[in-house]
Amino acid sequence: MLSERAVARISTDAISRNCAHLRSRLAGGAELCAVVKADGYGHGALQSARAARDGGATWLAVATAGEAVALRQAGIDGRVLVMGALTAEEAHALVQGGVDVVAWTPGFARSLASDARVHVKLDTGMGRLGAKDPEEVRAVAAEVAARDDVELVGLMTHFATADERGDDYFPAQLARFTEFVEGMRSEHDGLVCHAANSAATLRDPASHFDMVRCGVGIYGLDPFQADPADEGLEPALSLESWVASVKRFEPGESAGYGRRWVAGESTWVATVPVGYGDGWRRGLSGDCDVLIRGCRHPLVGTVSMDNVTVDLGADTDVEVGDTAVLIGEQDGERILCEEVARRLHTINYEVTCGLTQRVPRGYS
Ligand SMILES: Cc1ncc(COP(=O)(O)O)c(C=O)c1O
Repeated sequence: MLSERAVARISTDAISRNCAHLRSRLAGGAELCAVVKADGYGHGALQSARAARDGGATWLAVATAGEAVALRQAGIDGRVLVMGALTAEEAHALVQGGVDVVAWTPGFARSLASDARVHVKLDTGMGRLGAKDPEEVRAVAAEVAARDDVELVGLMTHFATADERGDDYFPAQLARFTEFVEGMRSEHDGLVCHAANSAATLRDPASHFDMVRCGVGIYGLDPFQADPADEGLEPALSLESWVASVKRFEPGESAGYGRRWVAGESTWVATVPVGYGDGWRRGLSGDCDVLIRGCRHPLVGTVSMDNVTVDLGADTDVEVGDTAVLIGEQDGERILCEEVARRLHTINYEVTCGLTQRVPRGYS
């Protein structure tokens, strides 16, 4: 029996193994940068960062200044890159912690404080951050390189469709970046060039350059939204709760708000105390399974803030206190995060990031 109403169990060893596996797929000595933004995609940023390091990641990346500061305050040293947009004040504050930042405008480059470490960014087709015009990036790099109190460290881009295998946009972005890298390397020594997210890392070694930035893959989630095992990845997170009640329902009796489910015949129904307040989204109402005693049982009725109801069938040996698995494996049966994501018409990233702070994380 669980000691808490719901818990996300996270295997830090699985994160380390996923990092080691991703590293084993890297071409030509490329380094692994583990992306631990958004609290490590819901897995815990600090624990994930340490596990990634144990698995051979030599860099860490986050999206915000606050996330980088939290890593430093927890005593995590080594290379950290903030990939997101920063105000000049935020960039100044990061210098003290030796955190790398990204620049794509000459104004931002000029505003950098002494000792800043800078990566410049070319937008090869993501259409978000970065300069679209290679000449503009070249000018930003020249601006940085001209200052002897600031270090030009790297050159990056980001792919929009690496997870859509077989598409022709990814190769076009890769070709644009490859050409740019060649020119920039002839102008600046020692640049760390990086482009690949998890999907690109798995899809094409030509995208590896000097470093890859893997997020979803280090957590054992499949960037292609299929089975992580297909890519040799091992899910690090499982979500568990418990059976708090088992009741007999006669035909016509209903469970949950709005009476969206009414028993058609006599059956047993379990109440499991997890709900959208925990990140188990209301869109899963009547549309997912829960593992109890190694068997799938359908969630019935509306997901409420704190509870869901599960149809156990006409005969059941399920008892109050049994463990209920919403994501993960039980006695050989498993529910992948990718399955939950499919039911919600979203991606696995959003499922783990969406688990709220009310769900304690348990590490092993
Ligand atoms: C710039 C950048 N690089 C790398 C990543 C990691 O991507 P993934 O989690 O798909 O590996 C992200 C994540 O969104 C990102 O924004």
